[in-house]
Amino acid sequence: MSAEPPIYLDYAATSAVRPDAVIDAVTDYLRGIGATPGRAGHRRAVEAGRMVFRCRRALAELFNLPGDPGRLTFQLNATHALNLALFGVLRPGDRVVRTAYDHNAVRRPVNALEARGVRQTVLSGAPDGSVDLDEAARALAGNRNPARLLVLPHASNVLGTALPVAELASLAHDVGALVLVDAAQSAGHLPVDVQAMGIDLLAFTGHKGLLGPQGTGGLWARERVELPPAFFGGTGGDSDSPDMPGLLPDRLEAGSQNGPGIAGLLAGVQWVMERGVLAIHARQAALKLRLWYALDMIAGVDVLSPGDPDGVGIVTIAAAGMDAAELATRLDREAGVLVRAGLHCAPEQHEILGTGRTGAVRFSVGWATTEEEVDRAAAAVARIAGAAEPAVRAAGS
Ligand SMILES: Cc1ncc(COP(=O)(O)O)c(C=O)c1O
Repeated sequence: MSAEPPIYLDYAATSAVRPDAVIDAVTDYLRGIGATPGRAGHRRAVEAGRMVFRCRRALAELFNLPGDPGRLTFQLNATHALNLALFGVLRPGDRVVRTAYDHNAVRRPVNALEARGVRQTVLSGAPDGSVDLDEAARALAGNRNPARLLVLPHASNVLGTALPVAELASLAHDVGALVLVDAAQSAGHLPVDVQAMGIDLLAFTGHKGLLGPQGTGGLWARERVELPPAFFGGTGGDSDSPDMPGLLPDRLEAGSQNGPGIAGLLAGVQWVMERGVLAIHARQAALKLRLWYALDMIAGVDVLSPGDPDGVGIVTIAAAGMDAAELATRLDREAGVLVRAGLHCAPEQHEILGTGRTGAVRFSVGWATTEEEVDRAAAAVARIAGAAEPAVRAAGS
């Protein structure tokens, strides 16, 4: 075991290291409010409801949502939000276009829908994470059978590359398809502007770039895209009705809300907005590039992520002759570097990269990552997996 403090480089999985403001907001909520939003008229429940509304409004500002912030509903995570959107929009006979970069949170529900008569077309992808717009246009148009929905990740959780959402959305709208964006990796890391990008449905998670606790996330659907509820139950209002209320957010928020989680998410979103997404991106892009160059200098290490500042702060590598899981385990045990090995819930993208059998090792930087941590992580990779010293050491720095 390394004696030095651990280096957390798995922010793409979750921001396990959180700002004090987020932790304080959760504990303050549990101590001072503790009630369920919308479930009573007493002051604690009213205060809880106000906090949830503030969080909805903050997210509406962050994502530039038009109209009523109530069209953003809180869900447990991006997976629930994506399921709600996919099962809500697609009917037997519909065709959905998705990408080979999809997380299992999209791939698996679409496969489940295929078993119910929905057809899918998968855009093929490339090792550099790019999308062929001609292929996308053809797939969306179909053979006189236009797609009902395009679903795509804003950023790949394997390579960190950003997809051209606005261009793809425009192609989708040309054939009358709706656009569902999985912003699990981009929210808080890259600007997400649903109006500028032409997004009809946005699924996001709260526990990654938005720095909230697990159990938070949500789905926004633009006006005139009405989704049926997936869950039925109490909403605090309209209790005499036998059916779910017609109005959002209640229609899609059955059961008690995650008050402490949403309080933490609100603090995380405020943290992000105070600093600005562009500033956060610039800082993390610099750290990502520093790590990329250092890893790229190590003989025997194949850096799979592109070495550019675009996209999110992910650098994924494969080490010659070393199993990805072994490298990650040794980085943890011998150097205290915490990263994620395997297929990252995106096996199709690993097939494209040639790592479908072995997996790869993903490093992901976040709000608290420092240059020193990045340098120590690269030096540890060189020691454990490399035949050469990393750039930072070779340069004598
Ligand atoms: C691209 C992408 N989509 C969806 C998810 C699922 O997110 P959640 O864990 O919030 O359901 C993840 C999480 O790893 C992801 O990276």
